[in-house]
Amino acid sequence: MAKLGVNIDHVATIRQARGGIEPDPVAAASVAELAGADGITVHLREDRRHIQDRDVMILRSTVQTHLNLEMAATAEMVAIAMKVVPEYVTLVPEKRQELTTEGGLDVAQHSQLLTRQIESLHQAGITVSLFVDPDLEQLKASARVKSDYIEIHTGSYCEATGQAKTAELAKIEAAIKAGRKLGLRVNAGHGLNYRNIRPVLALGGVDEYNIGHSIISRAVLVGLDRAVREMADLVHGS
Ligand code: PXP
Repeated sequence: MAKLGVNIDHVATIRQARGGIEPDPVAAASVAELAGADGITVHLREDRRHIQDRDVMILRSTVQTHLNLEMAATAEMVAIAMKVVPEYVTLVPEKRQELTTEGGLDVAQHSQLLTRQIESLHQAGITVSLFVDPDLEQLKASARVKSDYIEIHTGSYCEATGQAKTAELAKIEAAIKAGRKLGLRVNAGHGLNYRNIRPVLALGGVDEYNIGHSIISRAVLVGLDRAVREMADLVHGS
């Protein structure tokens, strides 16, 4: 059965809009877990635009499923991860100007740095995932740098329409198969919602889906409990 990791960054986005204390992502994580989330994901961005260091520290002791810390492959972030020791770290590319993560990591280009960082994270007992485009060269490079997981970037599939969408789905399918053949475990995420996830679920072979924006958006209208339950039902039923 596939798992659902709920990304609660945008609960913090709402809090930061007023710079106050509500809504608290720590409370959101507990509600999400009670509603069937299998894991909690947060992205501690270098600019701290949503999740704060305080959130990560508290979540470390309150999350009862598993904590997946998304972060840039920088010395500052690796040092934080070594202090927090989440179950998973997902390394992502990060640009200050972007609205959200754009594109996957260029693992091939940064293989020396990533090899060193993955080794350090492994020594701290942290399982590592690399956020990559569904591209064979990046998958091979991910295996070479000894990542445990890849997370396939589903953004291009989610944004495409018509024939292009079918082509993007085929790339995801090929990447799932290739990743597993290379001995990597495979997660997927970015841009997935209650409709576009169905064809991806039908492919099989994905351990965990990391989903944030669509769940928090639905939660604004129907409540977080229901929004998580509805996505968990889809993912668990696949
Ligand atoms: N996976 C990764 C690596 C991400 O950077 C993000 C966005 O923070 C997500 C999944 C979740 O994407 P979305 O919010 O579009 O569901």
